[in-house]
Amino acid sequence: MNRRDFIANMSLLTSLSLVPKMAWALESDSKTTYQQFKKALSSQPQLIGYQNYTQERVVDNLKVEGQFPQGFKGSLFRNGPALFERDEVRYEHLFEGDGMIHAFTFDQGKVSYKNKFVQTEKHRAEQLAQRFLYDFSGIGIKNPKPISSADTINPANTNILPVGDELWALWEAGSAHSLNPETLETKGTVTLDSDLKGMPFSAHPKVEADGTIWNFGLDYSSGKLIMYRLKPSGQLHGFGVIDTGYHAMLHDFLVTEKHILVILPSLAINQEAKSFMQQQTFMPEQPMRVLVIDKNDFKVKSSHEFPPCFIFHFGNAWEDADGSIHFDGCRYPDLKIMKVIEQAMAGKTSNNEHSYSQSTLFTIRSNGQTSQQIYDGISEFPRISPSMTGLKNKKVFSIGGDKDQEWMQSVRSLNIDTGKVDSYDYGSDYLVEEHIVVENGHRLEKNGYLLGTALHWPSKKSCVSLFEADNLSAGPIAKAWLPFHIPLGFHGNFSKAV
Ligand SMILES: [Fe+2]
Repeated sequence: MNRRDFIANMSLLTSLSLVPKMAWALESDSKTTYQQFKKALSSQPQLIGYQNYTQERVVDNLKVEGQFPQGFKGSLFRNGPALFERDEVRYEHLFEGDGMIHAFTFDQGKVSYKNKFVQTEKHRAEQLAQRFLYDFSGIGIKNPKPISSADTINPANTNILPVGDELWALWEAGSAHSLNPETLETKGTVTLDSDLKGMPFSAHPKVEADGTIWNFGLDYSSGKLIMYRLKPSGQLHGFGVIDTGYHAMLHDFLVTEKHILVILPSLAINQEAKSFMQQQTFMPEQPMRVLVIDKNDFKVKSSHEFPPCFIFHFGNAWEDADGSIHFDGCRYPDLKIMKVIEQAMAGKTSNNEHSYSQSTLFTIRSNGQTSQQIYDGISEFPRISPSMTGLKNKKVFSIGGDKDQEWMQSVRSLNIDTGKVDSYDYGSDYLVEEHIVVENGHRLEKNGYLLGTALHWPSKKSCVSLFEADNLSAGPIAKAWLPFHIPLGFHGNFSKAV
């Protein structure tokens, strides 16, 4: 099989692995999810973050508390699932909703906002039909249309990254979508190379200080992994393929100066379950496996094992002069978090104590020995100073919560060297989302900001807050309020105005 045939075969396999093999459920199941959520929302207003959301709006002047620095100019772009329901049918998993992009633009102390759905093939077709057309998760859609490729059902709902003069809306199993950063209009899917059309391009690319973009995509059926190297403009520089033997969900990865780290959590696929999300199974005896891959030739140099766990998100990785490699991630002891997410879609919530992740530092010594250090506290959505990607960083920023709360409600930074935590608690009436580091013209993690959104559920309004990154406990230096709420999203990035 030549390269073109091999890759084309991968594309087909990827789409097939996302399709349920049987009609497992009746549409009444998803109608039940719809009704359960609707009923729960009437008595639990905190659930508005998971409510179906269709409004596209523009707000010129947000109400500002405090003062955004005059020189703080640019846009925070965020992505997340928003459209979960059509015709009284509700998706059973949060990850399945159509992606909506939110843009908060900062200029001379003023803040403006706009949002738009990514106009994917799926979204456009279903808008016209006014119903769901593809039954990729086995919820029993009537007369479903065939799924010819992963991009047929690509919701573009996970991350948004400025690339060159475009924005790329990202999902895990299909192509990136290109958007206009000014208007948020969708231009179309990104084809990096004719041989790579429709290949999975994950939602967590890593961008180095010189603008080089690294990413991966996993073909779940074959276990083959594509690794991409892109120029800052988004042009393909090179790619490689390795056989991982891994077939389950793979959400994130890392780079160091010399290596790509592919970290395979302790998951396997249960073919009996009805949807790809429900097929994810935690294997308590299966170590987490780390593949160390040479950036130059995309070849696996070594493989290492850590105690079994599950990780959605990693912070950063770096290597010492002696070849030792360190990386951090938010470690779950199992996969209960997936059930928690699914239950929230049906309006059933539970305290964090049932499932939470903790910042953990993993080390691979030059002699191959491995060790891990788990830090106290709940931690998810880790971010670092962007220019430290692949280099030794001191701090990892994340959101946190308490075990007896249902939601994440704080922001925190962890000094990896000392274990010291600096945090700010928004309070239990906020649902706090990912906060990102915005550097302020300096490298080495100094004089930067932390920027992120939160939903204040009693007032049904969302806000965007700016902190001094080195003094989170002082609280936000400025906060801008929308006159309405926006749905809870996943990831975002900042684009500085030039
Ligand atoms: Fe993610």
